[in-house]
Amino acid sequence: MITDLIMGTEYTLDLSAVKIPTHVAIIMDGNGRWAQARGLPRQAGHRAGAENLRRVINACVDFNIKILTIYAFSTENWSRPKREVRALMRIFARVLNQEIGNLHQQGVCIHHLGELTGVEPNIQKKVRDALELTRLNDRLILNVAFNYGGRAEILHAVRQMLADGVKPDDLDEELFSSYLFTHGLPDPDLVIRTSGEQRISNFLIWQAAYAEFYPTPVLWPDFDKFALYDALVAYTDRDRRFGRVSTED
Ligand code: IPE
Ligand code: IPE
Ligand code: MG
Repeated sequence: MITDLIMGTEYTLDLSAVKIPTHVAIIMDGNGRWAQARGLPRQAGHRAGAENLRRVINACVDFNIKILTIYAFSTENWSRPKREVRALMRIFARVLNQEIGNLHQQGVCIHHLGELTGVEPNIQKKVRDALELTRLNDRLILNVAFNYGGRAEILHAVRQMLADGVKPDDLDEELFSSYLFTHGLPDPDLVIRTSGEQRISNFLIWQAAYAEFYPTPVLWPDFDKFALYDALVAYTDRDRRFGRVSTED
């Protein structure tokens, strides 16, 4: 049972009937539309989205979710107008500065999914410092997909395997997974995409093979603890068959 006080009203979320996925992944989409709907520049939407991240991380800790993966910046997002890319980098750096202390105190262990090459050196340093500071924490693993693309990740893995001289006969799914940025972690159980889009946009294309997909029309800056709870309720009702017949049959 989780109780929350919102504008003087007490809300209770009953967790007893909810199956908590081990690994939740979120495509945080809709910042631009959130801002547009308010007559604000897109950057304002990204700032609101960054604010919301803190709330969703807190909710994941409260719900006892063990791994949260967030899609923060894709390899394709470099094609946005320079001004927007600059704003996104600034916001990312600020979030790292301002939130890292709290995240560390909360027991959050940060992992980075993606490549740091091509990213501004000061951001590279902040990411490395954050990984180092939080590496022993175990309350929540927070995978930050930043300069991440699923196809780029697969190419990166293949290059590494070739460099390591992996023999074709030795290659299986487990070995391949061990070369991905998510090595050592279980695949996502639930992939949430906010803002109504129903596509994967190059996110965890290997790892999400059997994830449950939950699209919601809620725009990312508005995606709160209650919206996350709704996603968990929907996940609880899913029958994950993994190609087999239903466990209820
Ligand atoms: C998600 O919001 C943030 C990033 C992709 C970095 P968008 O900026 O994609 O917002 P919309 O989709 O234009 O509304
Ligand atoms: C996916 O959102 C990437 C992130 C949320 C970081 P996009 O807004 O970039 O995806 P498309 O362009 O709608 O597929
Ligand atoms: Mg978008």
